[in-house]
Amino acid sequence: MSHSEEPRAIEVVAPGANPSAGVELLAVPVRPGQVLAQRAAALDAELSGPLSRLVEAGFSAKAGETRLFFSGLAETPHLLAVGVGEGEGLDAENARRVAGKAVQVGRIHSLVTVGVEIPPLSEEDVPAVAQAAAEGLCLGDWAYEDLRRPGSERVSPPAPQSGVIFLGSGQPASAGDAAGRGRTIAECQNFARMLVTLPGNIATPSYLEERAQELGERYGLRVEGWGPERLRSEGFGSLLAVAAGSRVEPRFIVLEHQGTGGAPTVLVGKGVTFDSGGISIKPASGMEDMKYDMAGAAAVLGAMRAVAELDLPLRVIGLIPATENLPSGTALKPGDVIRGLSGTSIEVINTDAEGRLILSDALAFATRLEPAAIVDLATLTGACVVALGRHAMGLMASDDALAKALKSAGERTGERVWRLPLWPEYRRQLDSDIADIKNSGGRDAGTITAGWFLRDFVDETPWVHLDMAGVAWAEKVGPYQPKGATGAGVRLLVEWLSSAD
Ligand code: BES
Ligand code: MN
Ligand code: ZN
Repeated sequence: MSHSEEPRAIEVVAPGANPSAGVELLAVPVRPGQVLAQRAAALDAELSGPLSRLVEAGFSAKAGETRLFFSGLAETPHLLAVGVGEGEGLDAENARRVAGKAVQVGRIHSLVTVGVEIPPLSEEDVPAVAQAAAEGLCLGDWAYEDLRRPGSERVSPPAPQSGVIFLGSGQPASAGDAAGRGRTIAECQNFARMLVTLPGNIATPSYLEERAQELGERYGLRVEGWGPERLRSEGFGSLLAVAAGSRVEPRFIVLEHQGTGGAPTVLVGKGVTFDSGGISIKPASGMEDMKYDMAGAAAVLGAMRAVAELDLPLRVIGLIPATENLPSGTALKPGDVIRGLSGTSIEVINTDAEGRLILSDALAFATRLEPAAIVDLATLTGACVVALGRHAMGLMASDDALAKALKSAGERTGERVWRLPLWPEYRRQLDSDIADIKNSGGRDAGTITAGWFLRDFVDETPWVHLDMAGVAWAEKVGPYQPKGATGAGVRLLVEWLSSAD
C-alpha cells in the first residue's frame, strides 16, 4: 500500500471454497521438506508438481527464502513458495511474513490480486493467524511516495488491490472478523509510518496536532492541542525549555477515547519532530535520520486511531509532547537548571537528552489523571540500539504485572520487548550537585538511567517505559517492512489494550 492509495480489500475464503475473483499469485508457506498447504497441493498435482519437486530438489525453506513460479494456469498464474524455517504448523508471525512477501512480490510484478494459504490449524489458533495474515497483506508493500513527481520512474508500480486469505480450517466468520481487525490495525500502523517518514519541515508539532484533530473528527476522539501560551500557564517548563531554541512552536496534544469510562489508561509518545541535539549538537553524519525522533508520538497517534476505530471498551488517553530540538541564541544550555510541571528542579547536563525532559512534563501531567496505567514510548537512547539492536524495544517498569502484560503482547504481535532492571544503584548516576536531578547519567547503562529519570515523575502509578530507538527505523527491508519508518508500537499497544481486563 502507498499512503495515497485506498485501503486494500481483504477477503477470507473458507476451506475448499473459491474466492470471488481469481488470485494472480498464491503464496504458499514451506517448511524444510514439506509444503504447508492443501489448495497449493491440489494445484501442484494439477501441474507437473513444481512445488513438491522444489522441495525434493532441496529448497532449504529457510525463513524468508522465496521462489516464484509461473504456473501457466489461468486461475492462479503465479505460485510463490515462502520458506518459514523449521517448526510446526504456522504461527501468527509466520503468517504475517508470508502475507507480507506475497504483496511485496505482487507489487513488483504489478499483480492486482494476491492470496496466501493458511494450513489447517486448531480452531482456537485461526483468528490470531488470520489477523496476522491480514496485517501482512496490508503492511508488506507499503511505500510513501507522495513527495516524488507523479509518474516518475522512481515511483513503484500500483499496489495489489485485494488480498485473499485461504483458510485450511476454522470458521470463516470468526476469521473474517479477525482479518478485518488486522486490516484496521495495519492501516493505523501505516499511518504511523507515514508520520515518521515525513521530514521535519513538514511533520512539525502543529502538523501532528492537525493530524490529531483530523483523527478526532473522523473517528470520534476528543482532541486538544496546547500551544506556548497554554503551556506557560499550565507550567510545562521542561517542554518549553527544549522548545526555546526553535522558532517552530511546541504543542502538547491530548487525545481521548471515552470508551466505557473509568480510570484511564494513558499512552505517552515522545514527539521530537527533529533532534539536532540542541547546543550539545550531534555530529552531521546521519543527523537527517533524527526526523524519526517522533516515532513514539506516531505510535500513540496510530494506536489511538485504532482504539477509536475498534471502539475498545476502555477509556484511553494519548498524550504527545511535541517540539523541535535546535541550537540558537535562545536555546537551552548545558548547566541550565529548569523546573517543569512536577516542580522537580533539573540540571541540564546535555541538551541532547531532551526526550526525557519533555516526557517528564507529560508524565507528571499523566499521573494527575489518576490513571490505571501509563505506558510511554520514546526513541530515547542510542544506548538502547547498542544493547538490543533492531530486534526489541527496551522495557523498564515500576510494576511487574504491567511489564508482563506488555511482554506477552509483544510475543503475540511480533513486536518484542525486553525488560531492563531499574535497580536503585543506577539512580545515583542522576544525582546533581545543584538540583534535584540531572538529565544525563553518563555513558554507563544509558538506557536504564534514562528510564530512571522518567520514573522520578510517575510516583506510584503503574508505569512502563518503552525505549524504541532501535526499532523505529529499519535499515533494510523485512518480510512485511520496507526500509525506513516501521510504525513500531501500534500493534503492540492495540494488542495490550485489547487484552487488558
Ligand atoms: N533521540 C536521541 C536518541 C536516539 C539515538 C534515537 C539514535 C534513535 C537513534 C536522544 O534524544 C538522544 O540524543 N539521546 C542521547 C542521550 C545522552 C545525551 C545522555 C544519546 O542517546 O546519546
Ligand atoms: Mn537527543
Ligand atoms: Zn531525541
